[in-house]
Amino acid sequence: MSTDVAFELVTLKGGGRSIRSKAHCETMHIGTDPRTEALELHVGQQRLAERVREWERPEPFVIWDIGLGPAGNAITAIEVISEVINSGTRENSTPVEIHSYEISTKVLEFALGHAGELEYLGGWETILRELLETGKASPAPLIDWRLHRGDFSRQPHDAPAPSVIFFDPYSPAQNSEMWNLETFRSMWGAVSAPGAPGCTMTNYTRSTSVRVTMLLAGWFVGTGVPTGEKEVTTIAANRLDLLKKPLDSSWLTRVRSSTNAEPMRGRNNERGPISPEDYARLIAHPQFLG
Ligand SMILES: C[S@@+](CC[C@H](N)C(=O)[O-])C[C@H]1O[C@@H](n2cnc3c(N)ncnc32)[C@H](O)[C@@H]1O
Repeated sequence: MSTDVAFELVTLKGGGRSIRSKAHCETMHIGTDPRTEALELHVGQQRLAERVREWERPEPFVIWDIGLGPAGNAITAIEVISEVINSGTRENSTPVEIHSYEISTKVLEFALGHAGELEYLGGWETILRELLETGKASPAPLIDWRLHRGDFSRQPHDAPAPSVIFFDPYSPAQNSEMWNLETFRSMWGAVSAPGAPGCTMTNYTRSTSVRVTMLLAGWFVGTGVPTGEKEVTTIAANRLDLLKKPLDSSWLTRVRSSTNAEPMRGRNNERGPISPEDYARLIAHPQFLG
């Protein structure tokens, strides 16, 4: 096992290598290896290749990669999009923009120091160094990659409205500011503005309290695909018709009896049952009407 002050390399159950943050006591990826998780949970579930291929609007196709970390999701997405672009099967030639958000690039610097052991990083070292040094990179023709440094939960979201969001911070217990009502509300503001494209957001959680928080912030929320040892994850969207399995009235029944259904506010990570006022707001969400 390779060690550093803040991070260490670990071997996942499937044999792939990942990185563990010692401060957060959390490993960056779950399941078999970083690329498989990115493909299953984010890129595949969001039909990224098809949506880039079928994109017809005049503006760039935009992805928000929230929690760049060691760049597993971003690199996997860029590889898949490059294949689409190189195949010549796209209906137009508007660029694809990836906006990665990260509070500390130390983990990416650590990953670069261990690129030989982290298989998915092979061949990406020069592009990643350029991204770190200049805040932008062009990993392939028609793909622009930008790095937004700082605390995402406290920033105005000035990147263009996304079609796809990879939401991948640490867990709510370790990273409460990223999961609260205020953060999901400010993201909802970006994706619900007039003229914004259809948007989906994928995440590894299945927590009732996180789903309640997303709904109260405005998002439509559904059950996401399994990945690694997780049988269920979460996908949110700015339109109900973008969800294959929206949460329904049987889920609402479980919310009422759950001891972990209180929405997350501020940095308070204490969980409890939902209050009558919040439950009334929840059932008034358009997802549950009619
Ligand atoms: C689980 S890791 C991300 C793994 C990465 N997406 C990948 O595919 O390799 C979580 C990342 O979120 C970042 N993060 C946590 N809080 C943040 C915040 N408030 N603003 C921006 N980034 C944050 C962490 O620094 C960490 O790099």
